[in-house]
Amino acid sequence: MTTDRIHVAGSDIAFPFEPGETVLDAAERAGFSMPYSCRKGVCSSCKGGLVAGDVITGRASRLSGRHEDVLYCIARPQGTVEIAPKWIVSSKAPDRRRFTTHVHRIERPAKDVTILHLRLPIGRRMPFRAGQYARVFLDEGSSRNYSLANPPHDNDMAVLHVRRVPGGRFSDRLIGTIETGGTLDIELPYGLFSLSEDDGVPAVMLATGTGFSPLCAMIEDLIRRRSGRPVHLFWGGRTLDDLYALDRVRRWAQRHAWFRFTPVLSRPHPEWSDAAAHVQQAAIARYPDLRGHEVYACGNPDMVEDARALMTASAGLAEDNFYADPFVPAGDPVPPP
Ligand SMILES: Cc1cc2nc3c(=O)[nH]c(=O)nc-3n(C[C@H](O)[C@H](O)[C@H](O)COP(=O)(O)OP(=O)(O)OC[C@H]3O[C@@H](n4cnc5c(N)ncnc54)[C@H](O)[C@@H]3O)c2cc1C
Ligand code: FES
Repeated sequence: MTTDRIHVAGSDIAFPFEPGETVLDAAERAGFSMPYSCRKGVCSSCKGGLVAGDVITGRASRLSGRHEDVLYCIARPQGTVEIAPKWIVSSKAPDRRRFTTHVHRIERPAKDVTILHLRLPIGRRMPFRAGQYARVFLDEGSSRNYSLANPPHDNDMAVLHVRRVPGGRFSDRLIGTIETGGTLDIELPYGLFSLSEDDGVPAVMLATGTGFSPLCAMIEDLIRRRSGRPVHLFWGGRTLDDLYALDRVRRWAQRHAWFRFTPVLSRPHPEWSDAAAHVQQAAIARYPDLRGHEVYACGNPDMVEDARALMTASAGLAEDNFYADPFVPAGDPVPPP
């Protein structure tokens, strides 16, 4: 531990850091929450200012003095620094655990989608919020993020929906070697993507492909809690095959009056009467005025950015009411120098 500290500009917040620790890790360890998503320097969610001092952000990238766009998830202070995050609030230090899980079941509901049902060691449970994700370890130093598709009451397991990225180390190559009865190391929970606590606010949910996974956890959580919160899910894919849990979602819509579902295909399909569209276009056509709503978007990063811009600019959605987890292609983080 050094005597150097991270100071937050315009506040009396200051906390220590370990040598080589990132600003984000040090803040969490000290009991503060700051914005983040991927934690690998790709999505920009954690971006904030450097007011004074030095940080290293990559193998050889040193920033000194004033900088606007510093990624705190990869920025390692070199001595006392002053930062200006978008927001920082006092919170409990996150309780995360690493487990060697047991591969209980493997499903392949579509050509490019694998669903892994992982069991935590017998007797172990791990509390999490619907919408959060797990980190899957490929080997020491290499990991991938996958949203938890199971609702929080099923917290003795982790269900992951993995879409194949051609050539991808985990989703294409390693996943083919995983067998029922095998093991996989994961750490959870991570992420700030979760439903707000106000069950009275109608939620519009947008997903592309396996972006459905965290929304599936949220909707099953609402069902289990008998919440009755109005939810309209727009789930998009290029082809019908991409909507790999269509029957299950249609069943939710039949059983629960508060839940509405619109499947959206971006390519024309002979059995599909609706015009080809993207989820954000379909949602805005149905909800041209989103004042008083919350939007939850997950999956393709381009969809997430387009939806955010469209809905806040032309449908009156408050910026703070747009919640998202873009599935940025974050491989391995840049190692510390
Ligand atoms: C917070 C978070 C949650 C996520 N949750 C999920 C989830 O629930 N389900 C899921 O399927 N994925 C999810 N992802 C994406 C996932 O973490 C991996 O990035 C993805 O599975 C690719 O890993 P890989 O090892 O197969 O590919 P890599 O070996 O990392 O990548 C191989 C090559 O493919 C490129 N690439 C990787 N992903 C894409 C992509 N989507 N589009 C185009 N090129 C790409 C890379 O840039 C690289 O060149 C999530 C990502 C984040 C940040
Ligand atoms: S959380 Fe830092 S770039 Fe994604």
